[in-house]
Amino acid sequence: MTTVLVLNGPNLGRLGRRQPEIYGTTTHAELVDLCRSWGRDLGLEVEVLQTNHEGVLLDELNRAADDALPVVLNAAAWTHYSWAIFDACAQLVAPLVEVHISDPGQRPEEFRHTSVVTPHASRVIAGQGIDGYRQALATIAGLLGGSGTHSGS
Ligand code: DQA
Repeated sequence: MTTVLVLNGPNLGRLGRRQPEIYGTTTHAELVDLCRSWGRDLGLEVEVLQTNHEGVLLDELNRAADDALPVVLNAAAWTHYSWAIFDACAQLVAPLVEVHISDPGQRPEEFRHTSVVTPHASRVIAGQGIDGYRQALATIAGLLGGSGTHSGS
């Protein structure tokens, strides 16, 4: 079964408590369970990691490059300015889908309107709430050529 990394950047560990009017009430622990369950339905083994430490995210992206693993990435605020994450995404060889719970492009802060991830992403899903992660996993399953159903292999 293909392993997919779902990588979440800073402050996303506080989902459910962090500005619920923007990010909703689902906690990160609940998001982990949902991603694993959506992955099972798609025939994907999903590993979810959240970190507030940029180097940890870079290590995971480097692992994804080395092991040719598909990635669902919500780099959170790093999306908007981390050239190290830009460089790490450039090395990925399997599909990369960028996810944001909110739609940064529609938010008032100018700094949110730039993404260092988008140039390397097969698809960007923004403003779909937590369901964006399900859509991202389904996109990866599709890009990998699966039927979207569990193959059991
Ligand atoms: C976010 C949007 C970013 O602008 C913000 O810094 C985040 C979360 C989102 O999921 O909507 O931390 O990536």
